[in-house]
Amino acid sequence: VGGRVRPVSPNELAAHNTPNDAWLGIRGRVYNITHYLPFHPGGPEELMRGAGIDATPLFDKVHPWVNYDSLLGKCFVGPLWIDRPDAE
Ligand code: HEM
Repeated sequence: VGGRVRPVSPNELAAHNTPNDAWLGIRGRVYNITHYLPFHPGGPEELMRGAGIDATPLFDKVHPWVNYDSLLGKCFVGPLWIDRPDAE
């Protein structure tokens, strides 16, 4: 495996919003959830609500205690690129 990790822009994240190609952002980290969908205890449809977006608020509303990084560590794509207008 060993895919390279690189920053993901919000536009790129948004493009991965179908069950066959689903990425999810949480706390500044983007994961490819495609292969986890069938295993999500809340069901694939629930998890798909967070596909293509920063799903942090949704996630925290349901189960802030879940250790997503231990479950999805191998599905990590990269950090979510945050635009900072005041950055140089
Ligand atoms: C359980 C929704 C993201 C892992 C659940 C349940 C819901 C839900 C409704 C409850 C299922 C039940 O008790 O019948 C969502 C939504 C998400 C989201 C809306 C984001 C859009 C994630 C992510 C992970 C995850 C990213 C980590 C890979 C789990 C686990 C449970 C669970 C482990 C069982 C938790 C427990 O019983 O304590 N989810 N989920 N979920 N979800 Fe998610």
